[in-house]
Amino acid sequence: MVRAAPPVIRPALPDDSAAMAAVVRAASSPLMRETTILGGTGLDHFLRDQMTSESANRFLVAEVGGHIVGMSAWRYEGEDLFLNHLFVHPSTQGRRVGTSLWARGMAVMEQAGIRGLSVDVYEDNIRAATWYRSLGLEPVARRLLMALPVAAGTDGRSVWTSTYLGEADEVYARYGFSQFTLTTERGAYAIGRLGSSYFRSPAALLDDEAAHVALRRLDPHRRVLCIDGPEWWEAASERGAVLLGRTVRLQAPIEQVVARLDRVLSASGSESVRQSSADGEYV
Ligand SMILES: CC(C)(COP(=O)(O)OP(=O)(O)OC[C@H]1O[C@@H](n2cnc3c(N)ncnc32)[C@H](O)[C@@H]1OP(=O)(O)O)[C@@H](O)C(=O)NCCC(=O)NCCS
Repeated sequence: MVRAAPPVIRPALPDDSAAMAAVVRAASSPLMRETTILGGTGLDHFLRDQMTSESANRFLVAEVGGHIVGMSAWRYEGEDLFLNHLFVHPSTQGRRVGTSLWARGMAVMEQAGIRGLSVDVYEDNIRAATWYRSLGLEPVARRLLMALPVAAGTDGRSVWTSTYLGEADEVYARYGFSQFTLTTERGAYAIGRLGSSYFRSPAALLDDEAAHVALRRLDPHRRVLCIDGPEWWEAASERGAVLLGRTVRLQAPIEQVVARLDRVLSASGSESVRQSSADGEYV
């Protein structure tokens, strides 16, 4: 590992959003950008808006030499602390910036009532997955990334409404992604409009013909992206789905992760997760 100045980890500020988005763009894979909001052209606006609103996410940045080289986002999911994002600029990877962002995140997030630590990782992201496994995280669920064409043909009798236009359209113009509600006689679906390629949809929509007709009417050039459990594969493949990849949910008891992280930090002479105070800079 290259020896260099240790990173300064601090809470992210709204004015950091452009630099954070640049780190995410440089560090994320094409598949991550294609299938999540991380590829959004207005990701910097989104991050800024998250930091200036009552967002569930708490953001940290890592600085080296006064430049932002990494970011992480944390939130609670039930009884778990969830590592929502962790990115280090490729030019700085392998210098313990990721470890420092992780340790600091665990130090600043309230852990009362929290049992586990969880994170989702793309299955082809061997490096991150190997690292997480070395911290004791184990797979607890797998999801498939299934992309299928919007159904051919139209059905004039289909009854549906959507919030595609209006506020959702304004959000799309600002972020390059947004969410709208599609309602049919069968149910109401939260649909993501991701970039220019996908409607991100719950797999429950797969066998709702009216919903397919609606999506085709809204934008026939998009494909439908379902990220859900393997039990949906048969229904998706019957509709012509291709498998883009898989994600794995990894999880471990929080105390175990803190102990493993402390071992790594003490071996490199850094402050432990428990020693790290919740205020000020963490170097
Ligand atoms: C994953 C990532 C955040 C790690 O950050 P980093 O600053 O490079 O990581 P660190 O230097 O703190 O090292 C953490 C671990 O990564 C692994 N690692 C670091 N450099 C590595 C390298 N050159 N090759 C392989 N593994 C490496 C090691 O397992 C290391 O832990 P260990 O030395 O204690 O065993 C960073 O590589 C990254 O941004 N990757 C692309 C985006 C991504 O995959 N994010 C995670 C999404 S779930």
